[in-house]
Amino acid sequence: MKLNIAVLPGDGIGSEIVAQAMKALQAVCRKYGHELTAREALVGACAIDATGKPYPDETHALCMQSDAVLFGAIGSPKYDNDPSAGIRPEQGLLAMRKRLGLYANIRPVATFPALLHQSPLRPELVDGVDLICIRELTGGMYFGRPQGRSEDGDTAYDTCIYTRTEIARIVRLAYAYALKRRRKLTVVDKANVLATSRLWRQVAQEIAQEYTSVETEFMFVDNAAMRLIQWPKSFDVLVTENMFGDILTDEASVITGSLGMLPSASIGLHTSVFEPIHGSYPQAAGKNIANPLATILSAALMLEYAFHLPDEGNAIRRAVAASMEAGIVTEDIAQGLAPHTTSEVGDRVAEWIDGEK
Ligand code: IPM
Ligand code: MG
Repeated sequence: MKLNIAVLPGDGIGSEIVAQAMKALQAVCRKYGHELTAREALVGACAIDATGKPYPDETHALCMQSDAVLFGAIGSPKYDNDPSAGIRPEQGLLAMRKRLGLYANIRPVATFPALLHQSPLRPELVDGVDLICIRELTGGMYFGRPQGRSEDGDTAYDTCIYTRTEIARIVRLAYAYALKRRRKLTVVDKANVLATSRLWRQVAQEIAQEYTSVETEFMFVDNAAMRLIQWPKSFDVLVTENMFGDILTDEASVITGSLGMLPSASIGLHTSVFEPIHGSYPQAAGKNIANPLATILSAALMLEYAFHLPDEGNAIRRAVAASMEAGIVTEDIAQGLAPHTTSEVGDRVAEWIDGEK
């Protein structure tokens, strides 16, 4: 099969981690006889520096022409510490999501046996956690307008907007996942305070009537944040709006032992994007120390979701598990043992794929 992908490393550690995911993809293609074509483009702070725009039109054109996008990370301290900057790297990611119509971000959270003791939670709470957070990705406060400042600069405002159509399509998607899994859906909102959340709850209650074989529960976001720590195994599929999903998935990720482990798939109307949920970790950029596993696991999701190649995706997952079992991991999950570099982890994962019978 021909795999024609766009590669957007972005900023910070992006190019280092994406390079490791490419090694894994190349190994899988060698092994299963696929032909990989990868073309790179700019996004984020590096795109602003080169073109003045965080998501240049050429980058968008490449994404539209590709079968899938592998994305690294964006963000730069230069902008984080300058709240007055008019153009920001994050706008590149948001523009990409919006223009590609990527309304759903699928974030699977499962624990790795080799990492149980790395979790801040007790191993018995974490062992066996297997949930999927489905985050709405192109609506809510991230995109609602008006957004801005008053003329005197002393008042700022954001707007949260959701339509029935936006809510219904993501809730239905979440039910499709629940049907394939343990048939439990948790709809997370703040319906006791927010009008948008009350519309979410109303629409979800209506759709729930069509899925009587799925147990639907409604939960306020503050309670969900607590339950994720207290009893993460109680969740199967969670569905929620953009901002709540952003926050809850960072929380959920540390349950697995490290933010550096969680992959995600952003899907919708046009080309899907596969990206780690972590950021650009600028302090580590260029040092060859960042954990590449979330990006490597995002490549596994790409093989499954974009190319319908589950065996190839699982080959990457087995290689990641084997590399972790062998202690070939970066410092964030080395648990006191000598850490390995980003590129060593990538090499080991690729070698494992190459060598596996
Ligand atoms: C994420 C990130 C992004 C988001 C940032 C970088 C804009 O935190 O993908 O979770 O908030 O969506
Ligand atoms: Mg986030």
